[in-house]
Amino acid sequence: MTIRSVVIGSGHYLPEKCLTNADMTKLVDTSDEWIVERTGIRQRHIAAEHETTSYLATKAAEAALDSGGIDPATIDLIVLATATPDYTFPSTATQVQAALGITGGAAFDVQAVCSGFVYAVATADNFIKAGSAKRVLVIGAETFSRILDWTDRATCVLFGDGAGAIVLEAQSGDGSNADRGVLSTHLRSDGRYRDKLYVDGGPSSSMTTGHLRMEGKEVFRHAVANLAETVEESLRRSGLRADEINWFVPHQANRRIIDATAKKLGIDPSRVVITVDLHGNTSAASIPLALSVARQDRRIETGNLVLIEAMGGGFTWGSALIRW
Ligand code: ACO
Repeated sequence: MTIRSVVIGSGHYLPEKCLTNADMTKLVDTSDEWIVERTGIRQRHIAAEHETTSYLATKAAEAALDSGGIDPATIDLIVLATATPDYTFPSTATQVQAALGITGGAAFDVQAVCSGFVYAVATADNFIKAGSAKRVLVIGAETFSRILDWTDRATCVLFGDGAGAIVLEAQSGDGSNADRGVLSTHLRSDGRYRDKLYVDGGPSSSMTTGHLRMEGKEVFRHAVANLAETVEESLRRSGLRADEINWFVPHQANRRIIDATAKKLGIDPSRVVITVDLHGNTSAASIPLALSVARQDRRIETGNLVLIEAMGGGFTWGSALIRW
């Protein structure tokens, strides 16, 4: 018998306020044509003042719990991926725990920027496989609008706010790829690339929050190579082929990165879930947002093989294969 981490619920939340590319042209010198052609982004949601990361995360968590008819009291671990926590401490995960009325188990944040949700899934899966948790709420939530330099057109047009969540439950499987649940995870990082994508502040360096800085071309160049490598490694380790994947749900950073990666891996465009056009890049929230959207509109069905992958600041990158 093998212990598997099976998805038993999913949900998401997006702030009501939405900025279209036309709205962005009023803030910086840009155009709908430039943004769409370079990134595929048409609009992004922006959190209102009261909508902190824990607020968005709690809404997404409630939706995920509701979708599976899950009693919050049965959750024994919350792993929350974010690079935009409410506070330096305590963790955003503990804020969500309190908001959901959960008083048992443990809750903590994971910081791997845009790869955060893949890191959180891998962490939750390992807790479950080790027998340390039975039902884990895995959340990706961000308010990147708070760390953008709204005068920098090269970055402020790219990002948005939002949150998504899944619930993983320990179930027994036979150890084959036919099992439901997380079949494999693969994480990587290389800290030498810190300066390509970072925030120029923090409690211990500047005592400020700082703003996002990025060398876009360099990030693009590394993204396609790193993402293809991690997906190939996940497939190789689990003995699966790219043509067996029902849904490819990549981190939604940029349409061109997604298309180039899918092409390199030989994944048909009709099997790629795209939300970057509507959400922009929501960092750690983008994958659970896309999973929840594709589950709600019935693209992802029980038994489907789903591949998630991401790359972000650090650099960090990683992938996971999940049979839904
Ligand atoms: N509107 C109009 N013009 C702009 C804008 C804008 N919003 N932003 C930059 N430009 C201009 C630049 O000033 C430059 O002008 P110049 O030639 O007069 O100097 C010109 O457009 C080209 O700039 P580049 O930065 O070279 O543009 P590029 O073609 O590389 O596209 C982009 C920029 C879209 C950021 C691209 O590099 C990219 O997609 N990189 C990947 C980065 C990414 O997705 N990061 C997300 C976080 S990491 C992750 O999640 C994987």
